[in-house]
Amino acid sequence: MSTLPDPGARAAELRDQLRHHEHLYYVLDAPEITDAAYDLLMRELKALEAEHPGLVTPDSPTQRVGGRPAEGFQKVAHSRPMLSLENAYSADELRAWDTRVRELAGDMPVRYVAELKLDGLSLALHYDLTPDGRANLLRGITRGDGSTGEDVTSNVRTIKSVPLTISPEKLTKAALLEPQQTLFESSNPQSDPAEGVRPAGQAFEVRGEVVMPLASFQRLNLDRERDGLAPAVNPRNAAAGTLRTLDPTIVAQRRLDFYAYFLLQNGDYLAQGQQATLDALTALGFRVNSHRKTLATVDELLTFIAQAESLRESLPYEIDGVVIKVDSHPTQLRLGYTGRAPRSAIAYKFTAQAALTQVQSITVQVGRTGKLTPVAELAPVFVGGTTVSRATLHNADEIARLGLKLGSWVKIERGGDVIPKVVEVITDPDHPAGHTDFLFPTTCPDCHEPVHRAEGEVDFRCTNIDCPAKLRESILHFSRREVMNIEGLGEAIVAQLLDTQLIASVADLYALNLEQLLTLERMGEKSATTLLSQIEASKQAGLARLLMGLGIRFVGERTAQLLAADFGSMEALAAATQPDLERVEEVGPKVAAAALEFFANDRNRALVARLTELGLKMTAEKRIRTDQLAGLTFVLTGTLPTLSRDQAKEKIESAGGKVSGSVSKKTSYVVAGEEAGSKLTKAQELNIPILDEPALLALLDGTPPDISSAEPHRPE
Ligand code: IVH
Repeated sequence: MSTLPDPGARAAELRDQLRHHEHLYYVLDAPEITDAAYDLLMRELKALEAEHPGLVTPDSPTQRVGGRPAEGFQKVAHSRPMLSLENAYSADELRAWDTRVRELAGDMPVRYVAELKLDGLSLALHYDLTPDGRANLLRGITRGDGSTGEDVTSNVRTIKSVPLTISPEKLTKAALLEPQQTLFESSNPQSDPAEGVRPAGQAFEVRGEVVMPLASFQRLNLDRERDGLAPAVNPRNAAAGTLRTLDPTIVAQRRLDFYAYFLLQNGDYLAQGQQATLDALTALGFRVNSHRKTLATVDELLTFIAQAESLRESLPYEIDGVVIKVDSHPTQLRLGYTGRAPRSAIAYKFTAQAALTQVQSITVQVGRTGKLTPVAELAPVFVGGTTVSRATLHNADEIARLGLKLGSWVKIERGGDVIPKVVEVITDPDHPAGHTDFLFPTTCPDCHEPVHRAEGEVDFRCTNIDCPAKLRESILHFSRREVMNIEGLGEAIVAQLLDTQLIASVADLYALNLEQLLTLERMGEKSATTLLSQIEASKQAGLARLLMGLGIRFVGERTAQLLAADFGSMEALAAATQPDLERVEEVGPKVAAAALEFFANDRNRALVARLTELGLKMTAEKRIRTDQLAGLTFVLTGTLPTLSRDQAKEKIESAGGKVSGSVSKKTSYVVAGEEAGSKLTKAQELNIPILDEPALLALLDGTPPDISSAEPHRPE
């Protein structure tokens, strides 16, 4: 077909043409040739490569689908953690965030970049620079737990909007035009990139979101239905599942897209800011969402959010909000992080989406405390990005309040991570009214013993202390990630362990052995060994988690932590009196009574004794609380040399002091670090004593700082 004598040159030409057309089609949505013309070029290249195998390059467009990873996906550490974002659900929450950003930024610039929040999963792409000045895709890594992800390169290569290679021209174009600080800073600033071979620059990393476009999602579900499989619930899950498929040919058949939003070099974000990052990514040939804007004020942000919300229905992919990022990199650094999220960005989540559907039946679930919860079984309906087929009805009163019957049409709402909710029963003429009243059961659906509703309570409970459903649910609760974190102890296994009577309480878990586990269905040696080591490891979970796991009424995560930190051991807690308990922060008469009742019960005491014998850790670090800073209010500003803001706050608060966000006449001390902003000036104006970190530590130590201005400021 080609008249060119040199097959190598023709192959190179074809590769460039194919890449160009892929970019037009998959990144810019603006193809210039027909699919048939593209196929023709591809076929010619494949034929050439087949004839001359030496011409195949790893970054050739023919090489998107390669072999499957031999041993599943390898775990890889991220160059810097992939964090998550705090959420805002209303204009007020967004305004509060903006106020805080400006407060912390002091006199540094605050401008925002607003982007759509794509409902997919985040992915990190590593690129390497080749000696001939190109950048080649090295690796694609899922977010995983944020620190370590899975190497899914073989699948990522099949995503056509991910460039396998980036030309030297594009790398040059993406270089940000600030003198001395180009994007691909060379190690040798003298050499001229225009001279052909570029100096070896630094490798870089691109982060963004993988989504499954709605059309692709619908096609997938048609295929699944045809094959008699359950439909995928939403595009996000489908994208995640696809990316973790072991066969890249399957991945290649489902269209996934990648939208880039971060660029990192040496694990650092681009110094030029977010707007410049998005422009550089575009120049590099990545797909960057076109709905984005640099904005100055909250009102402008809210306008953008409203526009995005009205756009939502017409987009070919799912979005669940708007991500707002502080543009300036120095300001981002100043704002820092809280736990797992940067303070310089926030996700504004859209409000609930609603849909109408019909109640097919109502089932009743028994919880670990014996509480009966009615659940509406619905005709499946797609709402807020997920197929919903069940919704909790909470209790009998709620069913009465809604006027809900079997066959009723209901409006359900789902917003963000929120569980679907039945908002109202539809009574218009277009929707037939429900036909049968639901009668709340008088016996437990699991053990058939009578149920009882205590005076003044809304919930019915199963009265049988040995109800198998209660036991099953309490064991599942015990093993949850937030509780004792026994991975692999899911519903199916717990049900089998109970059925075969291998366990009758959580303590029995610790007496299980390999032979016993191997008798269970679908339990291989490997999973059995893993499960045993998970159970063993959970012995060290500590007092707070164990207290949560025991299921003392009203004792959730926070209360368990406060009790554990205060008493330090199970023994001390079990011996506590009502007044002892009520002395603990946030513990009132109700919680205190529940704890007393728990430890007064012989069965519970026996369970705790047995868990102690089995070697579970029954202690926690005891917090020593003092009150030497009681009555004093501190304001923190700037970066302290060793303490993070949160650590400083924690120290002040455990010594009885208060930490406030702004300086006023009521402030006793301002603690200032490097790059302290307007708060420091304000403190000087108001004559409020200023402490550095050593002075704060001395104050906490009980040694007053030896500077004369260190007497706390007292409001007149
Ligand atoms: S920025 C600090 N930008 O939303 C890391 N995330 O709720 C924040 N997401 O894990 C990432 N679109 O998976 C960012 N334009 C966008 C996004 C986006 C969707 C996802 C991402 C992240 C989650 C946080």
